[in-house]
Amino acid sequence: MEKDINWWKKAVVYQIYPLSFQDSNDDGIGDINGITSRLDYLKKLGVDVIWLSPVYRSPMDDNGYDIANYLEIDPIFGTMDDMKHLIHEVHQRGMRLIMDLVINHTSDEHDWFKESKTSLHNPKRDYYIWRDQPSDIGSVFGGSAWTYDEQTKQYYFHLFSQRQPDLNWQNPHLRQEIYAMINTWLDMGIDGFRLDVIDLIGKDIDEKKLSDGPYLNDYLQELYDTCFKGRDIMTVGEMPGLSIKRAQELTSGDDPLLSMIFQFAHISLDEVPGEGKWALKPLNLVEFKETFEKVQHTFYQKGWNSLFLSNHDQPRVVSRYGSELFRKESAKMLATILYGMQGTPYVYQGEEIGMTGVKFKSIDVYKDIETKQIYQILKEKGWQEKDIMASIYMKSRDNSRTPFQWNEEKYAGFSTHEPWLSVIPNYHDIHAEKDLQDADGVYPYYQHLIKIRKENEIFLHGDFKLILRDHQKIFSYIRTYGHQKILVIGSFSDQKMTIDLSPYQPIKIWLTNDHTIQLHDVMTISPYYTAIIEIGGK
Ligand code: GLC
Ligand code: CA
Repeated sequence: MEKDINWWKKAVVYQIYPLSFQDSNDDGIGDINGITSRLDYLKKLGVDVIWLSPVYRSPMDDNGYDIANYLEIDPIFGTMDDMKHLIHEVHQRGMRLIMDLVINHTSDEHDWFKESKTSLHNPKRDYYIWRDQPSDIGSVFGGSAWTYDEQTKQYYFHLFSQRQPDLNWQNPHLRQEIYAMINTWLDMGIDGFRLDVIDLIGKDIDEKKLSDGPYLNDYLQELYDTCFKGRDIMTVGEMPGLSIKRAQELTSGDDPLLSMIFQFAHISLDEVPGEGKWALKPLNLVEFKETFEKVQHTFYQKGWNSLFLSNHDQPRVVSRYGSELFRKESAKMLATILYGMQGTPYVYQGEEIGMTGVKFKSIDVYKDIETKQIYQILKEKGWQEKDIMASIYMKSRDNSRTPFQWNEEKYAGFSTHEPWLSVIPNYHDIHAEKDLQDADGVYPYYQHLIKIRKENEIFLHGDFKLILRDHQKIFSYIRTYGHQKILVIGSFSDQKMTIDLSPYQPIKIWLTNDHTIQLHDVMTISPYYTAIIEIGGK
């Protein structure tokens, strides 16, 4: 059989946030054996690749995105043998597994940092970024990006929490150590990586160039040549600060540096521009559509994009852009609009059963470091408690980190022990067991959508044309491949609407969330209606 080097273009990726997926040993914390026990659930959904958020040894200041040892598994998640067993079981089922690679920074408990801070002359001093004076660069989580260290009387740089010191990629020895570590994992048989905030590694702190810094291409090239080249793997670079054009460049050519990129053009459209993620504004659907249009056009036939709305940093999409009242309808609509486009689909755990965001009463129940820090900062700025909580309800990363809702047992079948982060009380109504048995469930719909996507090359190669551009409530586009055309439509309205499809000559509905609606030239569609319709016209 000919080897398909671009298998990842056709793959559906499922992201697991290990802390919250499935607990296997009743300590209230999700773990590797828990994941292994749920592989059939993922296979049945149509998943090809599993992306594991970090399971390395970590003090969990940022839930594992602060790594203390890259080659050890944190005991709360299990052992290296558990990990090897998981990889084996994933492969047995014809799936693949990619790990999260957090190499912009480490934990302050990493040996490198422990050594680095002992003296100005320690050989590891230069593995991190130390300066006599701080600059005005702020941390992503709030406050300054510089922390003073008494012992050596210098400041170290951390773009995230002060327990996540940034590595100094300009040090060649450091780079070699990182490459060796990466090769160890790849030799162990994993199938690639999701590279955490990898747009930052080429930074020049003194010039204040952070994302897409002057050395980014060089380091990515070196990383590629030393670790990725010639291997049958996929890589996806998380690049929040990169332009669409640059994302396209880095994934282009016969031998792209990265298989694909998470670019963030569509991520902040419900925020007041320049005010940060906590200052909310209602989504302007036209802006949303035109952003996706731009991305689709940029990547068409050049480079490769990934399709995501939710992840462990983003709020649950049903609560964000859909409707909790029309939960199942809007969950299906959002999936259809997103996965109808070109790119590799990413499903974030729980999205496939329409899990919602959470509204904990008190800030004390929240666990996310960013949420806790921003709460303090906004308080100090004089924000009212209710306004702070309103922003947190919309944007906190804990929205998507609550335990997976498997069934209606206590703690939603996630654990028998009180979980590390509270389960959403709506688990009595929203859980996988129920959703799978429901003919109208979200999971069966996802299964169907994934199947249709795999069976029809139009999703892989078809071009993209936005229609009804100025419509405030409908997102619709046409994909064309050879003689075939499909129209994808999604309503963002909680009201019925009438649409005129006559210019597009509708032929057949491939998939819809409302079977009571017959195909006509002029149709009255239900709230959050969605469909993929084969058409004959323009
Ligand atoms: C990425 C991760 C996020 C983490 C940050 C720092 O954005 O997705 O969870 O906090 O990097 O590692
Ligand atoms: Ca556990």
